[in-house]
Amino acid sequence: MNNGKVAVVSGGSRGLGKAIVQTLLDEDYKVAAFSRSESDFINTLRESEKYRGRFYWDAADAADDAAMKQFVLQVYRKFSRIDGLVNNAGLNLDQLLPLTNDEDIDRILNLNIGSVIKLTRNVSRVMLKQNSGSIVNISSIIGSRGFKGTSVYSASKAALDGLTRSLARELGSKGIRVNSLAPGFVDTDMTKNMPEKQKSQIIRRTPMGRLGETDDMTGLVRFLLSPESSFMTGQTMAIDGGLTC
Ligand SMILES: NC(=O)c1ccc[n+]([C@@H]2O[C@H](COP(=O)([O-])OP(=O)(O)OC[C@H]3O[C@@H](n4cnc5c(N)ncnc54)[C@H](OP(=O)(O)O)[C@@H]3O)[C@@H](O)[C@H]2O)c1
Repeated sequence: MNNGKVAVVSGGSRGLGKAIVQTLLDEDYKVAAFSRSESDFINTLRESEKYRGRFYWDAADAADDAAMKQFVLQVYRKFSRIDGLVNNAGLNLDQLLPLTNDEDIDRILNLNIGSVIKLTRNVSRVMLKQNSGSIVNISSIIGSRGFKGTSVYSASKAALDGLTRSLARELGSKGIRVNSLAPGFVDTDMTKNMPEKQKSQIIRRTPMGRLGETDDMTGLVRFLLSPESSFMTGQTMAIDGGLTC
């Protein structure tokens, strides 16, 4: 079905990235992922006969520009093309802005938007040679809605949606599409330390009456990477159980 198609996923070791990597492998993509550290999931894939020659992972920090260039080069050397890019790696820090230090502000902005811009630039150069590609930016409903304690994160995701819209205009005529997926609150490491009171408040306000699961998100990623969405670009789509409706 997607035999021969190649997808790059940033932060594929756990959480949403892990679910995206597994979904794309199940869809017959060749998948290249990176994260700073390994996980049981990554090690199992690397050792599996089933995915031999179809899965590539490297330890790399998205904030390291040279490592990112090297990663894209390696993927291109190995698979000779890149059809999909899922910018998934991201970081949130639940903290009021007046209490947030410079290092944390820089870390969030650098990972959630700075490194995404650079990785996307590097990958788009490969896609331009092919005149085709689909880029999916994992944003957040917090990019368009305010939530106390997430100002820097919110700013970074709003910027990401801006990148989606302008890049869609830049690359559309070259057959490359760019869209954002904006999840609501999803049950991953990112939300595991959220106070129970806050969690139940969110669940109460969510029409579907629960937090999201990573598997709630993967169908849209699969769709946005596929030709089924061939006329969709520059859009931000929320999957949040109706929280923002
Ligand atoms: N969970 C939610 O409720 C929620 C809601 C809306 C949007 N999102 C977005 O969804 C995306 C995934 O979130 P998640 O909940 O799955 O997070 P997560 O469980 O914390 O996983 C983050 C992934 O990114 C990798 N990563 C983090 N920093 C990195 C760096 N500097 N360089 C390379 N890889 C890095 C992590 O691996 P290492 O730590 O090993 O590097 C891990 O694989 C993020 O963009 C997030 O903003 C999440």
